[in-house]
Amino acid sequence: MRKRVIAGNWKMYKTLSEAKDFVEQLREKQVDSSKVETVICAPALFLDQLVQATKDSFISIGAQTMHEEKEGAFTGEVSGHQLQDLGVSYVVIGHSERRQYFNETDDTVNKKVIAAFENNLTPIICVGETLEQREQNETESIVSAQVMAALEGLTEESVENSIIAYEPIWAIGTGKTATADDANDVCQAIRETILDGFGEEVASSVRIQYGGSVKPENIEELLSKEHIDGALVGGASLQADSFVKLLEAGE
Ligand code: G3H
Repeated sequence: MRKRVIAGNWKMYKTLSEAKDFVEQLREKQVDSSKVETVICAPALFLDQLVQATKDSFISIGAQTMHEEKEGAFTGEVSGHQLQDLGVSYVVIGHSERRQYFNETDDTVNKKVIAAFENNLTPIICVGETLEQREQNETESIVSAQVMAALEGLTEESVENSIIAYEPIWAIGTGKTATADDANDVCQAIRETILDGFGEEVASSVRIQYGGSVKPENIEELLSKEHIDGALVGGASLQADSFVKLLEAGE
């Protein structure tokens, strides 16, 4: 039985006071952490204060990216070592916006995933196809290749503890969601790719999220599907009320 994981990705939204208000509102809710893991991936400059504000709660804090080196002359970057030191527990890696605007490649994604595990961070590894690739029936081959590249060289234990987020690029922030059946088919293909590479036990344990215009109105159907174990949510994670509805659907 895989525990669901609902992660909000705030991207470059919110001021510090808005972030703290959100967490205060969320902390008042009762969320059954034995059924659903709650993660907020916030801008790097709030992470320290959000980790403090969520201590002894059901909420975990994640970063939105990290650098693969422990330290060095990399102006503007934040390392996994620094995130771990703050008490951050998750990190989004290879989001399509990072791949598109910041030149992240399958190779850098793989290096970051390895560095995340070296620093006891759980990576949320994003994969997904463009609209053009979907129209050319390349979705499963593209996504499977991204998954295998991201996981290259990892131990079975690390793969089992990874979270994969399937996010079709055409569904991000557009209001267009993949149908629950289409999303489930791709998540199943990801699980089969992991089965081929790492075996049955790992494939049946690894958690696979769907992301792309997830909202309170469509999450239940997505989560009802066999291979979808949670969601990575942008827009609908920005308001505490709507994020709580997503968590309730996950319980
Ligand atoms: O990381 C989250 C995804 O990019 C989805 O964003 O829910 O606003 O479509 P969205």
